[in-house]
Amino acid sequence: MENNINHSVAVIGAGPAGLFAASHLAKNGAQVALINRDIKYGGLAEYGIFHNKHKMKNGLRKQFHKVIDDPNIHYFGNVSVGQNAHLRIADLKEMGFSAILVTVGAQGTKWLGLPGEDLEGVYHAKDLVYHYNQLPPYSSQDYPIGKKVTIIGVGNVMLDIAHWAIRDLHVDQVISIARRGPADVKFTKKEMSLVFKNLNLADLDSEFDRAKDLMESVGQDAQAAKDFIFSAEKSAQESVSDTDFKLSFLQQPKQIIGDGNGKVIALEVEETTLKLREDGKGTRSIGLGKTKRIETDSVVFCIGDQVDQQFGLPLDKWGEFAKSPTPAYPIEDVSFEAYDLETNTAIDGVFLAGWAREASSGLVGTARKDGVQGAKALAEYLGEKETSPPPVEIIQALQKELKSNSDPFVTSAEIKELTLIENAIAEKKELPFFKFSSNEDMLEALKLVKPA
Ligand SMILES: Cc1cc2nc3c(=O)[nH]c(=O)nc-3n(C[C@H](O)[C@H](O)[C@H](O)COP(=O)(O)OP(=O)(O)OC[C@H]3O[C@@H](n4cnc5c(N)ncnc54)[C@H](O)[C@@H]3O)c2cc1C
Ligand SMILES: NC(=O)c1ccc[n+]([C@@H]2O[C@H](COP(=O)([O-])OP(=O)(O)OC[C@H]3O[C@@H](n4cnc5c(N)ncnc54)[C@H](OP(=O)(O)O)[C@@H]3O)[C@@H](O)[C@H]2O)c1
Repeated sequence: MENNINHSVAVIGAGPAGLFAASHLAKNGAQVALINRDIKYGGLAEYGIFHNKHKMKNGLRKQFHKVIDDPNIHYFGNVSVGQNAHLRIADLKEMGFSAILVTVGAQGTKWLGLPGEDLEGVYHAKDLVYHYNQLPPYSSQDYPIGKKVTIIGVGNVMLDIAHWAIRDLHVDQVISIARRGPADVKFTKKEMSLVFKNLNLADLDSEFDRAKDLMESVGQDAQAAKDFIFSAEKSAQESVSDTDFKLSFLQQPKQIIGDGNGKVIALEVEETTLKLREDGKGTRSIGLGKTKRIETDSVVFCIGDQVDQQFGLPLDKWGEFAKSPTPAYPIEDVSFEAYDLETNTAIDGVFLAGWAREASSGLVGTARKDGVQGAKALAEYLGEKETSPPPVEIIQALQKELKSNSDPFVTSAEIKELTLIENAIAEKKELPFFKFSSNEDMLEALKLVKPA
């Protein structure tokens, strides 16, 4: 079947998963409509990866530009799919697309349901990351974080937020809260090396002294955990601020306390202990009832993302898009098929990949692989389907439909033009990079809307 996909396919979402899925399908003959909410393609590779990783981001952009050059890929930027969006999945089916691959990432934010989460100064990392990476409309919103920042979670996103607070904003204090111990951190040495010089090592020592016996009781090697954190020392970047950076282990957030005028002033945390999981796979944390208060100007949740609950696909009990438990087209035992939990059947022709299939899992390379695997599952499905009408006509019908919208869509040629315009501005301003920070500015630069 592959090599001769005589069908039209809609890929929704042009992050790494959608781009590489589209590439796989297009190379094998499919006419692919690649529909993306943002004007620019790239998803979190453009708007998630830390803003000053220019080399990595430019390398990825080059790969993405190459993908999009495939004449079988038809890019529609600035177009959202969903319940209350420009298009619904049902509309795409009605237009005649033979199959749909949903690669919209995990656009929802995960919270803990704690009292005080709605206070001013309480943020989800996603909003801040989109802000400093200039994704409209987050780019033009204000996110004051004050001088004392408390972060929940100890993954790489925590280190990105700590990096921003320490190296860009030069705040006085960053405290990162881990519900488990030092052996359960999820960040990498490379990311830690960027802020290692700000780590409060005396405090870290006392954290290890406090956790050591407990860690040993659950079979964890405290010294190995310490060695891992210190492995970042050798390649540590010089500090650029006096920020005091602390890692605080075995604490779980209980409530966020306000000043009576709606603004956060403290986070209450509860001490935890570690228990081995029943399945033998690692540890879990259990609250001990003893609480303490951390004075803070802001609280940032870095505990992962979840899919957009309003997108219009059924959700499973974990809040993920439901997947068929008995897939007809599994790839390496993974199900890519969207599932209707009411009828207990796969949703015909709708597939999931990337962070839309499994939220917050892995790096760009993982999303790329997952996108291609999802495309392969979809291609197997298409192998059993007839084509009608001709695929190109379906793409033209989509174009016609979108032209009748008041919001302009952006093509791949226009993205190339936008890149040239932004690069020219960067050169003129002697900046390493320049990005328009509103959709209006991008559309105006492309002459797709009249100047306001
Ligand atoms: C803060 C942060 C930093 C990271 N840093 C790194 C790093 O340094 N290195 C690394 O390798 N990985 C990094 N990652 C991980 C990497 O970004 C992800 O693995 C990858 O981007 C996921 O790809 P995806 O295509 O599944 O989703 P996304 O990248 O989220 O792409 C989703 C796409 O779908 C579009 N979309 C969303 N909703 C809709 C809709 N309703 N209709 C149409 N289109 C829609 C969006 O516009 C977006 O283009 C980071 C992740 C985060 C959160
Ligand atoms: N530079 C990079 O390469 C880079 C940068 C950013 C992101 N990424 C990637 O993007 C993915 C997502 O990263 P992430 O940091 O969002 O997720 P992550 O690596 O899964 O880390 C999430 C953190 O939140 C904690 N957490 C989760 N639920 C919690 C709860 N209910 N209460 C308290 N704490 C909770 C986790 O603790 P537990 O372990 O106890 O659950 C963990 O410390 C990862 O694959 C990451 O590597 C990469």
